[in-house]
Amino acid sequence: MTNTILNFQTATGHEVLAAAGKKYLRPGGRIATKKLFQWANFQPGETVLELGSSFGYSAIALAKKYHIKVVGIEKNPDSVARARNNICAAGLENQVEIIEGNIFNLEAISGKFNYVLAEAILTMQSPLGKAKILAEIHNRLKPGGKFLSHELLATNKEEQIRVDLARVIRVNSTPLSESNWITAFATAGLQVEKCQTDSMNLLNLGRIFQDEGFFNTTRILWNILTQRDIRKRVLEIHQVFHKYQHELRYIILCAVAQ
Ligand SMILES: C[S@@+](CC[C@H](N)C(=O)[O-])C[C@H]1O[C@@H](n2cnc3c(N)ncnc32)[C@H](O)[C@@H]1O
Repeated sequence: MTNTILNFQTATGHEVLAAAGKKYLRPGGRIATKKLFQWANFQPGETVLELGSSFGYSAIALAKKYHIKVVGIEKNPDSVARARNNICAAGLENQVEIIEGNIFNLEAISGKFNYVLAEAILTMQSPLGKAKILAEIHNRLKPGGKFLSHELLATNKEEQIRVDLARVIRVNSTPLSESNWITAFATAGLQVEKCQTDSMNLLNLGRIFQDEGFFNTTRILWNILTQRDIRKRVLEIHQVFHKYQHELRYIILCAVAQ
């Protein structure tokens, strides 16, 4: 995302938002992540595997605040490079490692973890893909370990939303209802203990300020205003989010490996 020249016709929604300057690419923003971290009750020395770790911001926040070890897996090489730079700048090389790889090959990562964290990554998988990754998450957790999840929720019109999202974010994103998320987790042996949903404000100005701060929000707005390709795609995505503002929400879940 940092070095590769993006084709704005085909780039995924999260690549476009990252090109606009967005650092946090999850539907409930940092406030939802904070809630998930509170639920987790991390203890110093514990371990976390993060799926789709992007620029490493969640991994860095975890390592700094809770003194735990984090392994992130991310498939985009530019994001991996940027994450590694961020980790060095934070002086956390001994606590955070980012592996370039695919979350469909989690068996390549050795060891078991106290937690698996995944934000804005399961929604974009097919039903089979979701089931495969959830089963692998279960395998990577120690007995009693917790899965911390942050995804999109559709209260209804699931198929209509899937079609519209696929058109504007170029990913076959399939948000589930609350009960379908809980069932998908349970099928993989992940018992949901806590769950919360709220409105999805990823592209609302107030939420962008809250997540990104004043200077980065100004930079994002400048990029959207001055770069036609970015503006076109961001407006398309915004329109779909607005169209489904009553149906499309975020969900956070904390589930225990049975
Ligand atoms: C929507 S972004 C979310 C990033 C980050 N978790 C956050 O909340 O800001 C999804 C991330 O997952 C990565 N990703 C998508 N599919 C992946 C896969 N199969 N294996 C590893 N990473 C993947 C993308 O490159 C991107 O960085």
